[in-house]
Amino acid sequence: MEELKGKHIVLGITGGIAAYKSVILLRLLIKSGAEVQVVMTPNSKEFVAPVTFASLSQKPVVSEFFTANTGEWHSHVDLGIWADLMVIAPATASTISKMAHGMADNMLVTTYLSAKEPVMIAPAMDLDMWNHPTTQRNIRILGEDGVMIISPGSGSLASGLQGKGRMAEPEEIFLQIEKFFSKTEELKGTKVMVTAGPTYENIDPVRFIGNYSSGKMGYAIAEELAERGAEVTLISGPVNLPAPASPLIRKISVTSAREMFDESQKAFNTADIAIFAAAVADYAPEVQFDKKIKREKEEELLIRLKRNPDIAAQLGKNKEGRLTVGFALETEKGIDNALKKLQTKNLDLIVLNSLEDPEAGFMKDTNKITIISKDGENLKYGAKSKREVAIDIIDAILRYRKYH
Ligand code: C5P
Repeated sequence: MEELKGKHIVLGITGGIAAYKSVILLRLLIKSGAEVQVVMTPNSKEFVAPVTFASLSQKPVVSEFFTANTGEWHSHVDLGIWADLMVIAPATASTISKMAHGMADNMLVTTYLSAKEPVMIAPAMDLDMWNHPTTQRNIRILGEDGVMIISPGSGSLASGLQGKGRMAEPEEIFLQIEKFFSKTEELKGTKVMVTAGPTYENIDPVRFIGNYSSGKMGYAIAEELAERGAEVTLISGPVNLPAPASPLIRKISVTSAREMFDESQKAFNTADIAIFAAAVADYAPEVQFDKKIKREKEEELLIRLKRNPDIAAQLGKNKEGRLTVGFALETEKGIDNALKKLQTKNLDLIVLNSLEDPEAGFMKDTNKITIISKDGENLKYGAKSKREVAIDIIDAILRYRKYH
């Protein structure tokens, strides 16, 4: 039962009464073979003595920047390189706030700010503190920063009150840690190419033909793939999104459909899976003026357009065992049109979203999809965040891959 053998975990303890439960969490981690370095905030030592954690982990607890009598320097940077995962349990309102705002006034928050590894927190506090808009805002910030949050449970609190704020049980946190590690293995070694965002087709140096695609769906897919261990090449048109932080994602920025096609061709060569989530312009101006077009007396200006390459269809011609996934944004006869696209582009799966749906489409944070496979199976999903939709799409790809 050594599922976590060889895994390096930083376990952060902060000053809440739930710190006593972290002793049990530490024991579970050690029993399953993990190597654990405990980092304590100064306040947390009021709740559980460092010697308890030190003897269970068989490593001295780190709490200060220096060991006072030897002058030994504890490197938060080295811990960031050593660790595969950082878990802060319990995470108090104060530590959550410091993490959200980068207030590095103790060894634990400093370690968090240097963390190269994913971070998980198990909040623990009184119900009013948990419900306070400030805490909720800070939790949202951490969620957006990619921190995994293990929701507190409801029940009796140390204050004598009843409600939400109780730290998740150590067994539950342990389960989440195990799940995290098995997820990172799921697509290990699999190479995936993802196109995302719009393309801009220049008319002259200051004008272009573009579309409203935000790139959010493609980026969410790339991030979810990387969390499952895949090596991702993200070929992105011009978007207003931060570059994904995962070292497993290589982002290539392009502007036009032609550039996206060239980069996709290169990435496709070595890919196992290709996901075409970009909204590629179908046409580009035949001539691109190298000087700004001036306003003339004529009432009309004609711009001739020529067809752009259909990236998905072109690459689909020689896919040799690669699994390809496309998107269809339809305003009418969704399933019929999506099925036609699936065939003409030689796709394995197509993700349909209907523009008629108020919860689906460009610029939105949510999406509502139907996934249709080459075998004619179709699965309809409810409205979800784009990250949750990404999970559904990747789950569907993995299911499809298992049976083909
Ligand atoms: O034909 P339509 O543009 O509706 O098809 C959409 C699907 O095809 C999407 O997956 C999109 O990324 C892909 N596509 C492409 N290259 C194009 C046009 C669409 O890869 N030029």
